[in-house]
Amino acid sequence: MDGRDLVRSMKSVSALGTGHGLRTVRAAWRRKRVDALGLAPRGAERARVPGHVQDVEPGPGGGLIRFARSELRIMVAVNGMVFWGWDGAGPEPSYALAGACPEPDPRALLEPDKDGGWRVVAERVTLVVSRHGAVEVQTPGGVTLRREHPPRWWEPVGGGVARWMQRSEVAADARFFGLGGRASGPRLRAGTYRLWNTDPGRPFGPGDDPLYITMPVQVVVADAATHLIFYDTSWDGSVKLSEGEEGAGSGHDLVGTSELRMDGGPLRCWVMVGTPARVLLSWASLTGAPALPPAWALGHHHARWGFGGEQEVRRIVAGYLERGLPLDAVHLDIDHYDGQRVFTVDHARFPKLSGLAEELRREGIHLVSIVDPAVAVEPGNAVYDSGSAEDVFVRDVPGQVVRGLVWPGESVFPDFTRARVRAWWGRQYEERLALGFSGFWHDMNEPTSFVAFGESTLPRSARHDLEERGGDHREAHNVYALGMARAAYEGLRELCPEQRPFLFSRSGWAGMQRYGGAWSGDVATGWPGLRASLSLVMGLGLCGVPYSGPDVGGFDGDPSPELYLRWFQLGAYLPLFRTHASIRAGRREPWEFGPEALAHAREALVERRRLLPYFVTLAHLARRTGAPYVRPLWWGAPEDRALRDCEDAFLLGDALLVAPVLDPGVDRRVVQLPRGRWYDTATEKAYEGPGRVLVDAPLARVPVLARAGAVLPVRGKDGDMELEVWAPARGRTGSGLVVSDGGAGWDEPEIERYVTRWQGPRVVVEREREDGPAEPSHRVRVRGLPEGLPQT
Ligand code: GLC
Repeated sequence: MDGRDLVRSMKSVSALGTGHGLRTVRAAWRRKRVDALGLAPRGAERARVPGHVQDVEPGPGGGLIRFARSELRIMVAVNGMVFWGWDGAGPEPSYALAGACPEPDPRALLEPDKDGGWRVVAERVTLVVSRHGAVEVQTPGGVTLRREHPPRWWEPVGGGVARWMQRSEVAADARFFGLGGRASGPRLRAGTYRLWNTDPGRPFGPGDDPLYITMPVQVVVADAATHLIFYDTSWDGSVKLSEGEEGAGSGHDLVGTSELRMDGGPLRCWVMVGTPARVLLSWASLTGAPALPPAWALGHHHARWGFGGEQEVRRIVAGYLERGLPLDAVHLDIDHYDGQRVFTVDHARFPKLSGLAEELRREGIHLVSIVDPAVAVEPGNAVYDSGSAEDVFVRDVPGQVVRGLVWPGESVFPDFTRARVRAWWGRQYEERLALGFSGFWHDMNEPTSFVAFGESTLPRSARHDLEERGGDHREAHNVYALGMARAAYEGLRELCPEQRPFLFSRSGWAGMQRYGGAWSGDVATGWPGLRASLSLVMGLGLCGVPYSGPDVGGFDGDPSPELYLRWFQLGAYLPLFRTHASIRAGRREPWEFGPEALAHAREALVERRRLLPYFVTLAHLARRTGAPYVRPLWWGAPEDRALRDCEDAFLLGDALLVAPVLDPGVDRRVVQLPRGRWYDTATEKAYEGPGRVLVDAPLARVPVLARAGAVLPVRGKDGDMELEVWAPARGRTGSGLVVSDGGAGWDEPEIERYVTRWQGPRVVVEREREDGPAEPSHRVRVRGLPEGLPQT
């Protein structure tokens, strides 16, 4: 047992209660035994490379190139995305794809290239394949964005699953982002990043990798273009990255490299090229539009492991209400379950849960329930009994149901890769809806099973249906939570068709945004944890999951009032704004940190509520365009290298730039500005970008800058929506989109488009309609005007 395993087992022990240490040891041995029986040891292997080109077979969007020892299938799709698969792999079946595979572009043709190679020329991208099987992705102008070396496989001599490796090169100036939720980003520096969803077993900080959500998705930003590459394989693997360097005048640029090694699965990938917005639009069209959260889920949430009972929930809610602090949702953790068993209630502590839900609803507060996938092995428990009767639990090779150890003790795990199991699981949410819950928080779904040593998940040999293809946990592990999210989403749509389902999950994989969002998991309380929170949200957004947020204040321990406040202020500008902490952690209510912290937390809460119409608009735009609400500063200017390296600020939609305070003792900070004029929203002072400026960041607030010309919807003092307009620079214009939707249903609100410009001494705002400009549909407030100038 190494030090980390020991820490992990100690966490499990204390979490499960005393006397359980032995159970984690037993669980670890049991897991090991299952794999000893079910997994053949890897014997001798034979290495293979594609060899030379033999012949080609043109087909729609590209075709097949045959090599001596493999074949490469290439398909350019109508929307400019490119697919290729080795050993003849096609795009399907895939857990990531949202629906049918995109149609091939009939104009993309396979043509002979120099030196015996081949190329496919398409509108947005050219693919050049060398005679040895290197694949280059080029811009239409011929600049190479990525060079994939010929892949290499290692095949067991006696047959079985092949491991493979794909080395790639990118430009010297390129920067890597993505790979799911990483604590040490958003810019992914040189290092090895594992692709295996993992509960770190203790609160994590920037050094911990991997975490709960990994994805083989790289977003690469370079001078020539931005590209996203997705290796569609759910198996365990790792990516070794190194950033390039420009050889200072020597002409010897060092390229950036990516070395992907996978334990199995098809070697196939999708590439999309263009601006960041274009790339994310393609990604969302391939893997699915992000689910739209109900409007209330864009407000403030308060969670806690260990409320202990209804009275404590009432006390906390009253604390918010008495102080006039906005609150939109309260989350109940496993301690409201009976014996920590999923889909049950501890009636002693929560005797009238539906009454409590009703009471809260009258105050406009929604109840959200934690949902863990593990089901306690306990005849008499309704979920266990019905699950056993319907044969939904994962089995091992000899056919026994696989057991693990989670919060309720001995547990079994539904196989979410089987359609009828998803349908069964989806039906379980009826019990939650009847209690008055309106949202769901999926946890422990890597899946996690506590062990004293070894991996804290199911045995790798555990069998899964994998949509009737059959396979084991090595392939199913990373998509387990994705299947759970799908089960819940589809179940909720049946049970409650008039409401948009609200769920967010700790684990997941490419495509999870179709069903809901994500949260950070157990981020460590401390300044590094605060930084990691932002990295996770930005990384997930670039992988197509726009709705996420951290445990504000950190999961464990006691944040100082300053740290709590800075976290709160960051959280107020992130999609999921939720305070949460462990049962062993200190308080997290805004009034527990002294009057000064309370006053400033109140300002953050009030500002969040004021910005709610803007968040709703961003949610709708994310659904329609795939653009995350929280974007790196380079989003609109990927050619600005300084922005690529800036990790301590972000754009919130098109209009705002948020520069959170991530260090103690700060009262002003440097902000790297993209080009154009930016106003400090607190002082209305104007700054000109690009460049670095020093901005005040008193304890009362974090710097938020508005882009000149921005038009954004906010909630006015009377509760009505108004348009906040930031004066364009003289001679310039501006614009903004507004989607009004206060609800949780399926209505498709109109997108209102506004433009703003100078007309003599005034800034005017007009709504653009098909039949010409019109008066704005909302009250307008112009800000950032030089003194003495009239409002519109
Ligand atoms: C996990 C979750 C955490 C939750 C706890 C108890 O650690 O990440 O948020 O409070 O389990 O359910």
